[in-house]
Amino acid sequence: MCIRDRIGTITPRPQPGNPQPRLFRIIDREAIINRMGFNNAGIEVGASRVAASRRFRKNGGIIGFNIGKNKLTPNENAVDDYLACLRGAWDVADYIAVNLSSPNTPGLRDLQAADETARLLETLKQEQEKLTATSGRRVPIALKVAPDLEPSHIADLAKVFLDGGLDGLIATNTTISRSEVAGCDYASQAGGLSGAPLTSRSTEVIAAFHSHLGSEVPIIGVGGIMTAEDAREKLKAGAKLVQLYTGFIYHGPPLISEILKTASPSA
Ligand SMILES: Cc1cc2nc3c(=O)[nH]c(=O)nc-3n(C[C@H](O)[C@H](O)[C@H](O)COP(=O)(O)O)c2cc1C
Repeated sequence: MCIRDRIGTITPRPQPGNPQPRLFRIIDREAIINRMGFNNAGIEVGASRVAASRRFRKNGGIIGFNIGKNKLTPNENAVDDYLACLRGAWDVADYIAVNLSSPNTPGLRDLQAADETARLLETLKQEQEKLTATSGRRVPIALKVAPDLEPSHIADLAKVFLDGGLDGLIATNTTISRSEVAGCDYASQAGGLSGAPLTSRSTEVIAAFHSHLGSEVPIIGVGGIMTAEDAREKLKAGAKLVQLYTGFIYHGPPLISEILKTASPSA
């Protein structure tokens, strides 16, 4: 297990995201609801900032570029947005994460329909081959999924990932379910829920994907890692690496050292 940086989601063109307020803390549940909506400066600016920062980074580190489509791009043209981001991020990314799972871009999660995902993955893998040949450097492609998937959908997607030669799976994004925060302030706000209420669900999804994928497609586990024990559970469920976001907001940097101390497979 190691720590990785993640940038994004970045879209081909800059966009402002949703109007504020767009982020809500449910403090007593250690949760967040966000509907940021991919506010970002676009792939060109994002990639040039990373290129500039890399020159000053001492330890190198690993940077994943999380890519998406612009809000105004219809789903039938989504592939062009992902291709533009793949090309734009290639030279500065250590891996690319294809985000099909944000609840805050209308229709985005429809791209998780198995046939849609298969088509998109095929095109991206072809482009990956071309870019590898021209640049002499292969950048792995991972795909990030939602936690709100039925078992049969998970099975269908796992087949697509195995057939399509996916390099990595990131499970999971935020949930649209509110069952764990019913009655709390802000529970009715639109957006994706993260943090403690997501912990078990995301671990279940990791375990379900792992049962289909085995070691063929490595899984990056994310969703409600608030303690070192949560990280351990993700690794036990089959994740090879972990990421966290909301846990960092509630517990800060000590959580990272706690995880590194106690959650590595050899510990
Ligand atoms: C404020 C905020 C913004 C986020 N933005 C993105 C994003 O742009 N792209 C993405 O793939 N996931 C995004 N996420 C989801 C996280 O990367 C993560 O998958 C999710 O929050 C579950 O992990 P956590 O419980 O550790 O936060 C965001 C989460 C939060 C809280």
